[in-house]
Amino acid sequence: MSRGIEGRVVAITGGGSGMGRAMAVDLAGLGASVAVCGRRVEPLEETVALIESAGGTAVALTCDVRDPAQVEAFFAGVTERFGAPDTLINNAAGNFVANAVDLSPNGWRAVIDIVLNGTFYCSRALALGFPQATAATGSILNIIATYAWTGNPGTAHSAAAKAGVWNLTKSLAVEWAPLGLRVNCLAPGPTETEAASANLFPTDAIRDAMTSEIPLGRFATLADIVGSARFLLSDDASYVTGETLVLDGGESLAPGMFRHSPITPKG
Ligand code: HXC
Repeated sequence: MSRGIEGRVVAITGGGSGMGRAMAVDLAGLGASVAVCGRRVEPLEETVALIESAGGTAVALTCDVRDPAQVEAFFAGVTERFGAPDTLINNAAGNFVANAVDLSPNGWRAVIDIVLNGTFYCSRALALGFPQATAATGSILNIIATYAWTGNPGTAHSAAAKAGVWNLTKSLAVEWAPLGLRVNCLAPGPTETEAASANLFPTDAIRDAMTSEIPLGRFATLADIVGSARFLLSDDASYVTGETLVLDGGESLAPGMFRHSPITPKG
């Protein structure tokens, strides 16, 4: 499940924590050169230290993906260090819980800018440099969430932004197929990360209520995320483009139309 990863030049946004860090460490362990970016240098340097202590190759570059000039500088920095990137993971995200009516225009803009605009700026930068990439294959992986298509009361900004990324994925997959560039999405459900545990399921009661609605009975782990990311980025998925791999233990399917019917089996 990792054919073709060795020798790749991979750029990962939001690589200083959680899923971004886990994917960075995993891909570097498979022989990719990994560049992580984010707004603060310290967490990025921790990711690089983890990779280097395991014998891998990585670089940390600060970049706010909302700023096209910083994105351009990030890709120039990666190219100078490792050659033009052939692989990109749009993982950086911004989110907070608020009723839509309480969202200030600036709060709305902050999340749309990071998630949707940042994904576009980084994807465009990769595509512009891709003809110079030395790897025979490459791809873009966008991290979204199942609420891209269900919506999510309480995070309307993030859900709308992820929906935009989901749609953008399909347009770019077709436009950039002639370059040999695939574009896909990974849509995790609730995932065990430090930030998610602290903010989204901070108590046992909340955790139990949430997991009781997940057919597989648990949250996703970082190991689940990296395994699926690795597959979509590898040559094992070389004919997959414009697709979304849902990784939610069946959660988004569970409600079902006839869930209150006596004939529906109860788990
Ligand atoms: C209401 C809020 C707010 C809150 C910020 N704002 N937090 N409004 N409730 N809790 C408003 C501010 O008042 C401000 O508007 C505007 O948002 C910008 O806030 P700043 O703090 O100035 O911006 P910035 O420092 O750029 O922060 C960006 C951010 C922040 C997105 C708002 O939350 C952030 O950087 N978070 C870190 C990244 C993150 O959240 N990652 C989680 C991704 S996880 P005004 O009008 O006052 O100027 C994820 C989960 C998916 O996406 C789940 C899948 C199952």
